[in-house]
Amino acid sequence: MNLDEGKPGGRDTEAFKHFKQTGKNKYIGDKSCLRNGESLYLTSCSGCHGHLAEGKVGPGLNDNYWTYPSNTTDVGLFSTIWGGANGMMGPHNEDLNPDEALQIITWIRHLYTGPVQDAVWLNAEQKKNYKPYKEGKHFSKDEKGQCKPLEQ
Ligand code: HEC
Repeated sequence: MNLDEGKPGGRDTEAFKHFKQTGKNKYIGDKSCLRNGESLYLTSCSGCHGHLAEGKVGPGLNDNYWTYPSNTTDVGLFSTIWGGANGMMGPHNEDLNPDEALQIITWIRHLYTGPVQDAVWLNAEQKKNYKPYKEGKHFSKDEKGQCKPLEQ
């Protein structure tokens, strides 16, 4: 994973620095980041993975089956987004900067509908509060949190 390449920006945010040090994504569950993550996901990913990450040309990302089990960690998922996988799953570091990739990860984790014990990206507290995603729930542009509204 080479961070010298790819879309500029998003490398010195608090959350990305934290992610580099700890492998933990501070945006998980933050409504302001979910709002951005949904929009970024719909632009870059849903055409192949489906609106709800239910799978299309690309595999589903909302269940507990992973071709590459490394994607159950946010570090693994980040590296798939940044560097790509096989075939049509190319690298996405030209359309997303690292901080935006963290926001997409936040949205993908939010779309999860599988068993909570397999959601290894959640901590104990988050597992306790886990509710499977229900279609149609969106977050408004006024949500306060760590993520500023995306520039249009
Ligand atoms: C042009 C179609 C296409 C786009 C756009 C695309 N993907 Fe994929 N994706 C695929 C295909 C096809 C695979 C299966 C490749 C493989 O198995 O190596 C895949 C595989 C994956 C996997 C591995 C899943 C597993 O079960 O381990 C992840 C994670 C993933 N994509 C995330 C994303 C994200 C996030 C985006 C948006 C930033 C995205 N993809 C955009 C087609 C696409």
